Amino acid sequence: MRAKALGGDSLVEDQTRIYRRLFGRFVTGVAVVLTEEDGQVKGLTVNSLTSASLHPLLLLFCVRNESASGDAILRVRRFTVSILGAHQENAARHFAERKDLLQPALAFARDGAFVWLEDSNAVFRCDLAGAYPGGDHRIVLGLVLDMLGPEACAQLLVYHSGDYAHLAPVSPTKESPLA
Ligand SMILES: Cc1cc2nc3c(=O)[nH]c(=O)nc-3n(C[C@H](O)[C@H](O)[C@H](O)COP(=O)(O)O)c2cc1C
Repeated sequence: MRAKALGGDSLVEDQTRIYRRLFGRFVTGVAVVLTEEDGQVKGLTVNSLTSASLHPLLLLFCVRNESASGDAILRVRRFTVSILGAHQENAARHFAERKDLLQPALAFARDGAFVWLEDSNAVFRCDLAGAYPGGDHRIVLGLVLDMLGPEACAQLLVYHSGDYAHLAPVSPTKESPLA
């Protein structure tokens, strides 16, 4: 499939549509990035999460330049990343779409200044290590201070072609132990 040679904005729109459609074939996990500002939990659903470095432990995600949650994360300079299981699809939908509507039954866990989604497959507590321009997104780098997760991974929440799906985790015997 190739972009049609259209003029002006139509070509750009066409390229964006094709780009999104093709990238939808790259299956990702789903995570929620949270921060707390003035007693209010703020955050967004992301699938741009990547483990960026092992020494030191750094992760990154991309956030739209206009994102209110992105602004809060950059102001507070600390955040958590919760990697979601299939049982947390409501949380993914909430932090992607429905923040202005009634709160679903979300279970938050806290430790000091950090807040995250309870019952997640993995949680990373981060300090902001940097934010870099990336077109219409900002590339946010987090220094991982601490991490936790259950020994057994729950069924995974994944995303592709604009939709959620569930995936059975690999057998625990194929994962190295956490402790
Ligand atoms: C599965 C999924 C993944 C997403 N990944 C990202 C992402 O990586 N970066 C981003 O800026 N928005 C992403 N979004 C969209 C945001 O979650 C959504 O726009 C959110 O409302 C932004 O929060 P804000 O209103 O506080 O800016 C994703 C949405 C979904 C459903």
